[in-house]
Amino acid sequence: MAPTLNDVSGLRSLRAHGAAHGLLVGCAVNPDHLDGEPDYARTVAEQASIVVPENAMKWAALRPNATQYDFRKADDIVVFALSHEQKVRGHNLCWHEALPSWFAGTVTKENAAQYLTQHIRTVAGRFAGKLHSWDVVNEAIDVKDGRPDGLRNSPWLELIGPSYIELAFRTAREADGTALLTYNDYGIELDTPEQIDKRGQVMMLVRRLQARGVPIDAVGIQSHLSAGDVPGDGLIHFIRELRAMNLQVFVTEMDVNDRKLAEPVAERDAGVAKTYRDYLTPVLAEPNVTVALTWGITDRYTWLNGLQHASRADGKPERPLPFDYDYNPKPAFFAERDSIDGRPGQALPGADHYAPFNPTQPQRPQQQGRAELRRIVRNLVSSVCV
Ligand code: XIL
Repeated sequence: MAPTLNDVSGLRSLRAHGAAHGLLVGCAVNPDHLDGEPDYARTVAEQASIVVPENAMKWAALRPNATQYDFRKADDIVVFALSHEQKVRGHNLCWHEALPSWFAGTVTKENAAQYLTQHIRTVAGRFAGKLHSWDVVNEAIDVKDGRPDGLRNSPWLELIGPSYIELAFRTAREADGTALLTYNDYGIELDTPEQIDKRGQVMMLVRRLQARGVPIDAVGIQSHLSAGDVPGDGLIHFIRELRAMNLQVFVTEMDVNDRKLAEPVAERDAGVAKTYRDYLTPVLAEPNVTVALTWGITDRYTWLNGLQHASRADGKPERPLPFDYDYNPKPAFFAERDSIDGRPGQALPGADHYAPFNPTQPQRPQQQGRAELRRIVRNLVSSVCV
């Protein structure tokens, strides 16, 4: 039977096209849907060669209290990924958001460095050797806070001072010698005055870290865009500068909101797809860009529809991702795939071996297989686990 336009499995998938062009492609995932929703699990398995937990590796998710760790959801993602020949990014070890409720009353100037290093040793240590990369520090720059070094007034800055960034990277390297250590940020994609400024501060931060011999391997560009955003040359110069510094670049959290576009849906989808294409085509053509992830795979679960602020004026749900609510590929999917094809990259080793999803097989490893994988992961635990 001839394939339909909607058949984007196997060699037509993003992961297969990525593999043919030397690019890991994937999305943020939620372990509850991987477990509970076959269409979700199938789409992630079919399309992604790399996944990142949307929330499951953040402090608030891993730290029920000050002394214990709960790795069950994070492990579920690692187990799913290993069983579908996918790589995993860790997100994240140090951020001003998603801190647990006990944090403010417990972490002080006296013990903050200890809490940070102990967390990183435990979490990065648990998954050591299993992850492609870690977002070690997330969103540390906020020019609006007015500091000459551009650093955000985050709890970590207030408790430890600017050295918290270096401390986090050095501790991550000690805990996991193989994951690519990444600095990740947003609002650095466009050539507006604010974004040019912020991008400059990110560059200075990365240069300071390198000058001090801090282990950093990559910069993550989140890429939360709005339909109609026009990327300029600034980002490409930034990526090339990073290449000259021997750093990889990852598109870590791409989505394109359609707030500025009025109905009908077909026009919104076309506008979103155009932004995917306009943005990804030049970015993915850069050889040190080695990974591209969207922040979710289906519009059904985009974080944008959960935000209180900044939603569509007409109250309609946003459509920012490559697959629609019912797991049909959208124009954004084809724009992303075409942009991958435009990349002059080499095939990844094993590019013809893309681990097709077979619905007649169990979608999760057999109980025994999962138990074994959990045991392997648990062996790495260096502290109490609930
Ligand atoms: C978001 C998640 O998507 C939401 O589910 C959660 O409520 C808040 O965090 N930048 C990041 C991500 O680095 O961790 C954020 O994820 C989106 C913005």
